[in-house]
Amino acid sequence: MERLKNECLNCQKCPLALTRTNVVFGHGNEKAKIMFVGEGPGEQEDLQGEPFVGKSGQLLDKYLKLMDMDRNKNVYIANIVKCRPPQNRDPNMQEQDMCIDYLREQVRIIKPQIIVCLGRIAAQKLISPDFRVTSQHGQFFKKGSIHFMGTFHPSALLRNETNKIPALSDFQALRDKAKELGIDLT
Ligand code: URA
Repeated sequence: MERLKNECLNCQKCPLALTRTNVVFGHGNEKAKIMFVGEGPGEQEDLQGEPFVGKSGQLLDKYLKLMDMDRNKNVYIANIVKCRPPQNRDPNMQEQDMCIDYLREQVRIIKPQIIVCLGRIAAQKLISPDFRVTSQHGQFFKKGSIHFMGTFHPSALLRNETNKIPALSDFQALRDKAKELGIDLT
């Protein structure tokens, strides 16, 4: 993982390298059975080099805590693209495709049983190109040995509070799935 991280920190494969402050590789337990994947770093993440440390990260941490999960203990958090897209625009397909091998390697090393996609960009990249968060959030899709689930992006929840209740049921479904798979969160 350290080798992969070093390679990623020096990456110049796409133009996002020109505008980043820091590469945001990922954070958490490298032996975690549950992984969370967002779309890409925002302003705070770019400044601090850590995923989900801004306002949306604080909300994510709250949901994690309610489900006995903790980024420093039993989950791993990463993004589809590791460098901040200017003005927080969506990462385009080319940027996603240039970056996705880092995530693939992270997944290969961590071997999670569950991957939770935070928001449309991650869900469309990892679950299905036509994934609709509004109608398919909280559902599990098994691909190979991994159970994938898509839910609302925490920043979407900050914009539209009405989705906080369905997001909570998604996290409950996640905890149920973890239990079903025998994942120990203690
Ligand atoms: N939004 C994301 O998708 N990822 C982060 O790391 C922060 C905000």
